[in-house]
Amino acid sequence: MPFLNDQNRMWQDKARQVAEKVVRPLARKYDLLQEYPWEIKEALAEAGLFGVWIPKEYGGAGGSVLDLCIVIEQLSRACGGVGVMYCVNALGSFPILVGATEEQKKTWLPQIAAGKKLIAFCLSEKYAGSDAQSLRLEAKKDGDGYVINGEKKWTTNGGAADLYTVFAVTDPNSKSRRISAFLVEKGTPGFEVGKVEDKMGIRCVPVVETVFKDVRVQTSQLLGGQPGYGFHHAMGTLDLARPGVAAQGLGLAQGALEYAMVYSARRQQFGSPVNSFQMIQQMLADMAAQVEAARQLVYASATSLDKKLPVANKMAAMAKLYATDTAMKVTTDAVQIFGGYGYMRDYPIEKYMRDAKITQIYEGTNQVQRLVVARNLVKETAALTQLLESYIPREIQVGYNDPATLAAQKQQETAAS
Ligand code: CAA
Repeated sequence: MPFLNDQNRMWQDKARQVAEKVVRPLARKYDLLQEYPWEIKEALAEAGLFGVWIPKEYGGAGGSVLDLCIVIEQLSRACGGVGVMYCVNALGSFPILVGATEEQKKTWLPQIAAGKKLIAFCLSEKYAGSDAQSLRLEAKKDGDGYVINGEKKWTTNGGAADLYTVFAVTDPNSKSRRISAFLVEKGTPGFEVGKVEDKMGIRCVPVVETVFKDVRVQTSQLLGGQPGYGFHHAMGTLDLARPGVAAQGLGLAQGALEYAMVYSARRQQFGSPVNSFQMIQQMLADMAAQVEAARQLVYASATSLDKKLPVANKMAAMAKLYATDTAMKVTTDAVQIFGGYGYMRDYPIEKYMRDAKITQIYEGTNQVQRLVVARNLVKETAALTQLLESYIPREIQVGYNDPATLAAQKQQETAAS
């Protein structure tokens, strides 16, 4: 990538080294075991990768969202599960960066940056997925703190994580200030991991239900110290995090393309390697073009967040939907190129397809991303209307069906008769 700067390339090299030395050789083992890969987590921590997105004043490396995406891409290229096992820590800690008090930042961010504390993000519930505002977990004011009751669903990293960013209802009667976020530690009495999901893909990272039974938290654990800003913190977080899921899709697509290139050069049919056949070549060429288009969009969306551009919300949604749809398409085509062998678990490629599927669903389904993009387009329309309106003919067209032309025609007909 000629336009990456030295810092971007440094993170790319570091992540690629860990991915090739540690992640790829262990990917199959943890996919089969469906267990958290602590040895991989240690390697990521040792390489300093947990500090990428955390500012230097809080013990991090002060990298950009683009640096983070580059690291996620490299890890996901070797294993999609490890990609999310790593980037879910960014998702969990972005609410702290977006909305925490200085004290909360100083307490938690250095430990997360060092890889000493893992973190998870608890927003979704059984009945509140895409409609995140309708969540029901309640946090009732009680003396100098709150008492939390209810359940969360789809908590990625749950059980492994030490800290949980938990979104709960603090004011059921308010429309826009209903939700607040809390920082809840593992081991807090009443806070437990419930059902551990058995998943199609990303099997090395746990996805669980979390259960809250009279969990008492202090006001100091309320994110930002003020109730009612939880939904804003969640939405700001998802804007920052969505390019990361896009990068996961990008890495999966790139990794699958590479396997398909190597296998199609080796596999002989009709006396020739299958990559000499035009139909396979067309597939490979389309896959490569789609991967590259996804890469440009992921990097551009990350840069728009780093530069705090007004288009960042739209760009993050576009990158997430395009790169993860690309991941699904390219990994499926890669399985096709492997033929019957590609469908078998002995071969590495079917795992890419399984890992890719969830990227179209979590951190906002791709239907939600399209909704976010479309809402942005509707807002942008006002500015364009003045410029373009006069160039678009009205449905009533002069000389054909406009009232003046029709009246003139009628007048001529009456005069003639
Ligand atoms: N940044 C900051 N604030 C924002 C915002 C943003 N990007 N988008 C909206 N808001 C604010 C609005 O300004 C509005 O504020 P006021 O009430 O003060 O006016 C408020 O939030 C409500 O906004 P909307 O009316 O637009 O909200 P909505 O209910 O229509 O929802 C949505 C919009 C985009 C559909 C949103 O609900 C959404 O993103 N849903 C998907 C949730 C999601 O991604 N869940 C996945 C969770 S993580 C996961 O998958 C598990 C894991 O561990 C990996």
